[in-house]
Amino acid sequence: MKAHVLITGATGGFGRLFADRLARRGHALLLHGRDPERLEHLRKGLPSPGHHRTLVANLDHESGVDTLIEDIGETPLEGLVNNAGFGLWGRFASVPVEWQCAMLYTDLVAPMRLTHMLLPRLIANRGFLINVSSLAGEYPLPWMSGYAAAKAGLSFWSEALACELAGKLRVVTLAPGPSPTGFRDVSGMPARTGGFFRTAPEVVIDRAMHCLDHGGGYCVPGWRHRLLWLMQKTIPRSWGLRILARQMSRSD
Ligand SMILES: NC(=O)c1ccc[n+]([C@@H]2O[C@H](COP(=O)([O-])OP(=O)(O)OC[C@H]3O[C@@H](n4cnc5c(N)ncnc54)[C@H](OP(=O)(O)O)[C@@H]3O)[C@@H](O)[C@H]2O)c1
Repeated sequence: MKAHVLITGATGGFGRLFADRLARRGHALLLHGRDPERLEHLRKGLPSPGHHRTLVANLDHESGVDTLIEDIGETPLEGLVNNAGFGLWGRFASVPVEWQCAMLYTDLVAPMRLTHMLLPRLIANRGFLINVSSLAGEYPLPWMSGYAAAKAGLSFWSEALACELAGKLRVVTLAPGPSPTGFRDVSGMPARTGGFFRTAPEVVIDRAMHCLDHGGGYCVPGWRHRLLWLMQKTIPRSWGLRILARQMSRSD
């Protein structure tokens, strides 16, 4: 059987673009999502639809990830894009802790579990791993504190893993800032937050693929996101947090 690339969250903004780019490059895809109809629609619209399969699972708890792992079965894998994820906007104390734990599971635990299981196959096929993290993983984010914690964990884990796997597997840690996908509506973030830094999803995916083609690494896509990253690195944290708290609390 031809080796596949698994994309989690393939029905979302970044996921669909990854699916399109990778299918155009001739990869056979395992397209994961939660909605079978949207997945099927996506599959049929890709080049060589007969080469791709769809997999349905909710990744916000242990048995959901078990289901996905079971459905992947023994399929040979040459790539894994850990893309599925969501954020939750609101004061920590106001957002039910069960939701926050589900977010941590989806954004951090599920990628680690999938990677751990699939790593031997990815290495055997001299493949690649793309972890879709966020610039929220570079800096504490008031009103989205749990999301930033999950993405900080994902980035730290992904970059450390890349060192362990040097020469064996290309690993991209993708750290975008704001981009117009379904993310904002799902998270409930205030409408204008981070407006200046918004970068088209196409730019994000182009840069991720460019980084992959050049051996992998930590990728902050587009000049607006790189400017935001530079500000995170240079503005004293006490000032930065005050500015962010003002921005993020706008609809509270
Ligand atoms: N857009 C941004 O501003 C931004 C910035 C930095 C990082 N990111 C990261 O980029 C990744 C992709 O997000 P996006 O911007 O493309 O947002 P999106 O359009 O909302 O897509 C998110 C994808 O993840 C899936 N997903 C969400 N919760 C899930 C769960 N519990 N189980 C399984 N699948 C789940 C969604 O499935 P459904 O279609 O079924 O909901 C969808 O396919 C996420 O990891 C996000 O944290 C986004």
